[in-house]
Amino acid sequence: MIIQPRTRGFICLTSHPEGCAENVKTQIEYVKSKGQIVNGPKKVLVIGASTGFGLASRISAAFGSNAATIGVFFEKPGTEGRPGTAGWYNSAAFEEQAKQAGIYAKSINGDAFSDEIKKETIELIKKDLGQVDLVVYSLASPRRTHPKTGVAYASVLKPIGEPFTNKTVDFHTGVVSNISIDPVKEQSDIDNTIAVMGGEDWKFWIEDLKAAGVLANGAKTVAYSYIGPELTYPIYRNGTIGMAKNDLEATVPVINDLLKDLNGVSYVSVNKALVTQSSSAIPVVPLYISLLYKVMKEKNIHEGCIEQMQRLFADRLYGGSLALDTEGRIRVDDWEMREDVQSAVAKLWEEVTSENIEAISDLAGYRKDFFNLFGFEFDSIDYTLESDELTTVASLK
Ligand code: NAI
Ligand code: NA
Repeated sequence: MIIQPRTRGFICLTSHPEGCAENVKTQIEYVKSKGQIVNGPKKVLVIGASTGFGLASRISAAFGSNAATIGVFFEKPGTEGRPGTAGWYNSAAFEEQAKQAGIYAKSINGDAFSDEIKKETIELIKKDLGQVDLVVYSLASPRRTHPKTGVAYASVLKPIGEPFTNKTVDFHTGVVSNISIDPVKEQSDIDNTIAVMGGEDWKFWIEDLKAAGVLANGAKTVAYSYIGPELTYPIYRNGTIGMAKNDLEATVPVINDLLKDLNGVSYVSVNKALVTQSSSAIPVVPLYISLLYKVMKEKNIHEGCIEQMQRLFADRLYGGSLALDTEGRIRVDDWEMREDVQSAVAKLWEEVTSENIEAISDLAGYRKDFFNLFGFEFDSIDYTLESDELTTVASLK
């Protein structure tokens, strides 16, 4: 099959197996180039392991610390005439590379919010690893079926209180326009978003893992959050998704209580704004990211998911200093939030129009990152050739 990108808005409907493998290989090489993480994690469960920050966490643990990893995700393999999802191909390529390097890696494909997948994961840990010493929680999902009540929740991306009007960009065309987003009408929109993206499921995972005795003494767990600049507060940090992030962050002390007798500890790491399948769905944010990339690349402090996660592991969780903020959070968004970076972005934000966007922003970098997520636009790959279907994930056969 010859596979080309087919996009609908911020969604790409196709993925390229060899391109995804290239993406994974590049990330592995980066981690290896940084050297081994001294006293890093050894047995790791990554929930949301197939794309974005979760995949980068898995690669950092496996290739930066020789860690055995179990990855949980929700992806689709290819079928006759239809490519699978990027996360499927990423995971297939990751397992292949891990196997070649003699590093244990198995994956579980299914709904991480369900009790069944938690049970299946625990059985696999018991059988193969005994216990895990790190649990990375990196789910991003628009919906969640509650495992105890069966209620299906859908998250919304809306401001709270007042309508929000600001600039946004269609990153395919470069057209900058004003967008007005109405605030939530009902409290249930906020509650539903918290139910999907808040901390309850993270807590359920840790409760179940602990009850099964599969958490090692001194186990750590980390989940990911975002803050960002004031200009996105109405749609992000003070909007519905921000309320879910508040809930996630408030779960840290609850999980710390659960882990106390194991001498374990939980953290939230606030990460940098990056192009992922999830962030491209948020209005206004892609324009901010395009300007942020421009400024951070000029200052030589730009990072992608893999640079962020390698730094989180090497310089925060397993070395250097946690450098917690006043709320007790790890901040690998520290360079994004630097005063000189933010004031430069704020200035460009005022200036940016459809006419000057290619010149004053890194929209080209945004687009390339977007297509790279699906395995497209890698120079090393000839997209006119037939693609070999990487339809299997070794351990899922
Ligand atoms: P992503 O969309 O790349 O990754 C989401 C992962 O969750 C994938 O592995 C997917 O398969 C998995 N997943 C989704 N629903 C699932 C389900 N029901 N069962 C099992 N697996 C499921 O997203 P990204 O951006 O890496 O987000 C991960 C975390 O990082 C989120 O908490 C997000 O809010 C946070 N974050 C993202 C930032 C960004 O700019 N992208 C910035 C800071 C934090
Ligand atoms: Na992820």
